Amino acid sequence: MKRLGILLSGRGSNFVAIAEAIESHRLLGAEICIVLSNVVDAPGIVAARKMGLNTAVVESRGRTRDEHDMEVIARLHQHKADLVILAGYMRILSPRFITEFPERILNIHPSLLPDFPGMHAHRDALAAGVKESGCTVHFVNERVDDGTIILQRSVPVLPGDTEETLAARVLEQEHGAYPEAIARVLCEQYESRNGHYVKRND
Ligand code: GRF
Repeated sequence: MKRLGILLSGRGSNFVAIAEAIESHRLLGAEICIVLSNVVDAPGIVAARKMGLNTAVVESRGRTRDEHDMEVIARLHQHKADLVILAGYMRILSPRFITEFPERILNIHPSLLPDFPGMHAHRDALAAGVKESGCTVHFVNERVDDGTIILQRSVPVLPGDTEETLAARVLEQEHGAYPEAIARVLCEQYESRNGHYVKRND
């Protein structure tokens, strides 16, 4: 069984989708060992408590990034996390954090990376007038919204779309994409090759 450490800061709908995928045996070989929030009473951490999962709040206020990250890393190790799943975690990880879990930290971003990284993916996609957007699950490296892409799912951008309508259409895809990407990492049949995550030859 591989152990998932989930980090979140807000709503937590991707975390809930992952928990439900495990519960309903759509994501096999995984269990959630800890749900950790940097925000007190984030809806996601409240949901995790209701599910009876291990939870922790590690507040970032008043501490350096390194101090905060060291405590988060310690909690993840304490619960023996194999994979770190960023699910709406609104903090940039320190280099130390990233080297602690090489190719073991996943993030989901609401655009078809490398297009529209950053905080305003939907706004930027609409402003650019693209016909298609979507979501990307990728490994986290030292650059924001970069790192090997594990999988992407696309949706059409429709006439009259607002940030909210586009976000909702993409979010529906996120909830399927994240469990599938985790399964892909856990099955160990894929490897990173030249920046792509591809099936092994052997
Ligand atoms: C999602 O849109 C995800 O792509 C982005 O942050 C949002 C988190 O939503 N990284 P939720 O907290 O999982 O509902």
